[in-house]
Amino acid sequence: MPLEIVRAKTGFCFGVKRAIDIISKAAAERGQVETLTPIVHNQQVMDRLAGLGVRVAASLDDVRGGAVAIGSHGVAPEVEAEMRRRFPDVIDTTCHSVHRAQLAARRFAEDGLYVVVYGEADHPEVRGILGYAGNQGVATLDVASLTDLPKRLGVLSQTTQIPERFNRFAAALIDAALTRGAEIRFIDTICHDIPDRQKAALEVARKVDLMLVVGSHTSANTNHLVDLCATVTRTLLVETAAQLDPADLEGVRRVGLTAGASTAPETIEEVVEQLNSL
Ligand code: F3S
Repeated sequence: MPLEIVRAKTGFCFGVKRAIDIISKAAAERGQVETLTPIVHNQQVMDRLAGLGVRVAASLDDVRGGAVAIGSHGVAPEVEAEMRRRFPDVIDTTCHSVHRAQLAARRFAEDGLYVVVYGEADHPEVRGILGYAGNQGVATLDVASLTDLPKRLGVLSQTTQIPERFNRFAAALIDAALTRGAEIRFIDTICHDIPDRQKAALEVARKVDLMLVVGSHTSANTNHLVDLCATVTRTLLVETAAQLDPADLEGVRRVGLTAGASTAPETIEEVVEQLNSL
């Protein structure tokens, strides 16, 4: 019996699409553009951009030309200021949703609140957001790790987190920190693309024997799709069609397919082709 493929929502989110458009145009106009971090967390996309003249610099000291770009995850204001001081041509591809979270953090800090970001502390987006809070804050996924918090808190989320988990985090934080005289403010900074993609992926995952998530191990939203789908069915992350192992599909009649927000449509189609050829 042929393998049935059930597809959920795939394709670039608007922030990734915009970043790729901006950087592609900049590279075409200038011949070469360097980026401080990968513009998006997807190697296949970055490989394609490399062919257009986009080079990833290891640090600001490693930038060789005059044109340097900020990736879709954004950077802290002091990093941007340093870039503008050192290079005549700074191209900003920060996603609008990420910038909204950055401004929310700044507003909290200006109001004297200590900022708590629900997110991965070492993710570039989160480091940038904390930079907007003047580094007067902390990032974590676990309320238990927060001790000796100030009484006045401003709470927001990394844009790509799972909404239900942020809600649980918020409830636990209220339990732990809402003591006498405390003030806790929340701003919902989760990107709209993410819940839609997660909901569609879960719906498909419930109907299939195996769920494939196409995307990068370094992409936060891709890893969240894997986590979510794994709660209802066997789930595998594949970066490219070459990583598909026929042994993983043994006994599988229906396979579900979703992809991270930075996975190129061509990569997804290659996976579909490979599945059809098995
Ligand atoms: Fe932006 Fe949301 Fe994509 S934050 S980069 S539109 S997943």
